[in-house]
Amino acid sequence: MKFLLVGNGAREHAIGAAVLRSPQKPELIVFADKINPGLQKLATVYEKAASLTDLVALRKLVEKEKPELAVVGPEAPIAAGAANLLEELGVGVVAPRQSSARLESSKSFTRDLLQKYDIPGNPEFLVFSKFDNEDEARLALRSFMQALGGQFVVKADGLKSGKGVKVVGDHLNGIDDGLHYALECLNADGRVVIEEKLIGEEFSAMFLTDGKTLAALPVSQDHKRAFENDLGPNTGGMGTYSDETGSLPFLKPSDLAEARAITEQVLAALTTETGETFRGVMYGGFIATKNGVKLIEYNARFGDPEAMNVFPILKTDFIEVCRAVVTGRLDALPLEFEKKATVVKYLVPEGYPNIPLAGEEIRVLGLPENCEIFYAAVDVDAAGRILTGTSRAIAVVGIADDLTKAERIAEEGISKIEGKLFHRRDIGTPALITKRVRHLQEIRGA
Ligand code: AMP
Ligand code: GLY
Repeated sequence: MKFLLVGNGAREHAIGAAVLRSPQKPELIVFADKINPGLQKLATVYEKAASLTDLVALRKLVEKEKPELAVVGPEAPIAAGAANLLEELGVGVVAPRQSSARLESSKSFTRDLLQKYDIPGNPEFLVFSKFDNEDEARLALRSFMQALGGQFVVKADGLKSGKGVKVVGDHLNGIDDGLHYALECLNADGRVVIEEKLIGEEFSAMFLTDGKTLAALPVSQDHKRAFENDLGPNTGGMGTYSDETGSLPFLKPSDLAEARAITEQVLAALTTETGETFRGVMYGGFIATKNGVKLIEYNARFGDPEAMNVFPILKTDFIEVCRAVVTGRLDALPLEFEKKATVVKYLVPEGYPNIPLAGEEIRVLGLPENCEIFYAAVDVDAAGRILTGTSRAIAVVGIADDLTKAERIAEEGISKIEGKLFHRRDIGTPALITKRVRHLQEIRGA
């Protein structure tokens, strides 16, 4: 059978590796816009297009290769309608259609959806639309920011690669700063979301769905800030960890139940609203707060790095998983994972994210047992050397019976990779995890 994978990041490298573990001897067809040396090695066909949203090129590839199943990795091709095209061409696709993908591509759509269907999980929020009079807009924005006690978040309304959200105290210096950014968003997109700043511990809960059943994947925690101790600019994610129970040390079973209940209701609401069947991944960015679990955002795809906490320990044949998603039989699928903790750390170029040092050679000198690596944004030169690009370079995953061991394996793996790179040593360490646990205990008064 032929399996199409759209995308070329470390997430897709991990997905590709899981596809090829299938006993069904699949052929992997990759639709990419950059060379990923790891993924390229796994692929029977590696088609490099100008862009992942080039649907004309995607159509040509599919008409030629006729894959049975497909996964679309990144948000951009999903939001551009890659799943609509693939369905039209008769491919079973694990990714939602464009209209359903608004769950991720529009922050205001999702906030409004939860409100309209009375689903718990929203913070206080208001969506501001295009205005006639800038003074009036200014006044309305200011008064809502004041009503939130100056504790607010400004969210651009569109796909911004994680860079459209600005939080008071982190990226914004108060109401004047917030107003300035909110007006910038309004002028650019015609809409902006202002919401209450939530305090707690964040977690990523991904569910596969066939439109009816939700199958939970191991839950993890991402680290967006570039530097240790959560300092520095935001990134696509510097690393994640997930414990051997598929949860996180600071979460209670009731937190996971709340995240699931919210997601079930959102799936039902979205289905009613769009008239479509959502087949793919609902990935909730949640935050456990004093007042229970709240929704930060949904993504309509596997997380990166979160996918790398999932695929290395997936026991079930991934091709069967995809078939169950596209045929609506997820209820009958036993989705199994090894009972292992995983720690993912990204190696990134020196200077990342602001002035990344590109073009520097990376050498992998061998890896310890239970350690996997996945390539992200690297370049390959004519001599076949692997070079840094301008974004995250290599994800290193440690897999073990508990988090302490998994973290050590990840570090051991990293010590075998040479180059002008850095990573966050603190991710997954007992010290940082204890800090997270205490933080939430303080917030909850436990
Ligand atoms: P998003 O792109 O919506 O995931 O937002 C990026 C990051 O901004 C999240 O991972 C949070 O750390 C932060 N963030 C977003 N919304 C809120 C909120 N309402 N309160 C506090 N932090 C938030
Ligand atoms: N880990 C963040 C994301 O995949 O959007």
